[in-house]
Amino acid sequence: MPPTPTIDYRALKAEYLLDPAITYLNHGSFGACPKPVFRSYQLWQRKLELEPVQFVDKIFKPAISEARCELGKFIHCDPDDLVYFPNPTTALNTVIRSLKLTPGDEILSTDHEYGALERTWKYYCQKTGAKFVRRPVHLPYDSKEKMMADFIAGINPKTKVIFISEMTSMTAVIFPVKEICSKAKEAGIMTIIDGAHVPGHINLDLSDMQPDVYTGACHKWLSAPKGSSFLYVKKSLQPQIDPLVISWGWESDFPSHSQFLDYHQWQGTRDLSAFFAVPAAIAFQKSNNWQEVSSRCHNLLVETRRRISNITGAELICPDSKSFFGQMASIRLPDIDPVKIQTTLFQEYKIEVPVFRWKDETFIRVSIQAYNDENDVDKLIEALKQITGKQT
Ligand SMILES: Cc1ncc(COP(=O)(O)O)c(C=O)c1O
Repeated sequence: MPPTPTIDYRALKAEYLLDPAITYLNHGSFGACPKPVFRSYQLWQRKLELEPVQFVDKIFKPAISEARCELGKFIHCDPDDLVYFPNPTTALNTVIRSLKLTPGDEILSTDHEYGALERTWKYYCQKTGAKFVRRPVHLPYDSKEKMMADFIAGINPKTKVIFISEMTSMTAVIFPVKEICSKAKEAGIMTIIDGAHVPGHINLDLSDMQPDVYTGACHKWLSAPKGSSFLYVKKSLQPQIDPLVISWGWESDFPSHSQFLDYHQWQGTRDLSAFFAVPAAIAFQKSNNWQEVSSRCHNLLVETRRRISNITGAELICPDSKSFFGQMASIRLPDIDPVKIQTTLFQEYKIEVPVFRWKDETFIRVSIQAYNDENDVDKLIEALKQITGKQT
C-alpha cells in the first residue's frame, strides 16, 4: 500500500495563479508564485506606495536585512555574505566583471552551462584575453565519480576559475559541485557556482559546500516572486567584488558594518518587493511539507521519463536517482524540428513545455511542481504519441 499523502494536493494546486486552461510543465524557466507569497509581494508594494519616502528611510533596511537573514538560515550561510539581485545573470556579471583576468588565464567549465552566462564569460574573455574552456560532459551522465575525474583532469596551471552549474539548464542534471569545490580549494582555484535551479528544489548548504561564489534564483523553485535571486560571496573575497552599478554605497557617507552590502545592495531606485517576499516563500514551502511535495514530484518525473523513452526508444540521459535530477528532467525526442514540436504542443494541446536542440539532438525538458499531477503527464504522453507518430 502506498503511504497516505499528508498533503491535500488539490488544495495546493488551487494556491497557484496559473491559467487552468494550460497544462504547465515548465516551472524551470520562470517558476510560478503561489497566492500567499504573491499577496506578501503586493503588500510590500502597497507599503511602498503608501509613503515612499518613509518606506525608503525607515522600512527598507530592516526589511532587506530580515529577507537576508531568513534566506541565510535557509541556505546555511552568514546573511552578511548574501546580497539580493534580480537574477543570476546580473549577480554573476557583477563577479565576473570584477575578476582581474589576464591573457592566457583559463576558466574551466562544462559544455552544459547556461547560454547567457557563457556569453558573459566570452565577452570578458574577449576583453581580457582569457580563455573559457568548455570541457565536455558526455551523455549518458551516469557516474559522478567519472564526471568528477574527467572534469578535474581539465585543471592546469593556467586555470584561475572553475565555473559550473549545480543543476544544469538544458540537460537538467545535478553535478557534484561540493566535491569539485573541495578539489578546487586544494588547487587554489576560485569556484563560481551557478545554482539558479537549486534553492527550494534540492538541499542547499553553503557552509558544507564552501564555494567561493554561489548564485541562486528564488523565483524558480523557492516559490518567490519573479526578480528575486541572490549572490553569495565568501567573506575573504568580498573586497575584490566591484559594484556593477556605482551608487550611494560606494564611498558611502553612512557606511554600514559591511562594504559588501553597501556596494551591492542599493543600485538606485527600484522595486525591491520581490526580495522582501522571500521569507513568505520560505514559510510557504515549510508549511506545506515541501520535502514530501518534492519527493512526489520527483517520483512522477521518474515515471514520465520512462513513459517518454518508451515512446521514442531513446536512452535516458542519467540514472533514476534524486542525486542525478530533481523535479526537472530532459528527455531525448526523435529528430523533429523542436520549434515545431513545442508550437504544436502549445497551440494544439495547450501544453507549455520547452523543446530544444542541444548538441544535435532534440530534447524535451519536463518540470513537475506541486500543481502538477498524473493527468498532466497523461496529456503530454498522449500528445507526444500523436506528434511523433505523425512525423516519424
Ligand atoms: C543554469 C541557469 N543559470 C542561470 C540562469 C539565470 O537566468 P536569468 O539570469 O536570465 O534569470 C538560468 C535560468 O534559467 C539557468 O537555468
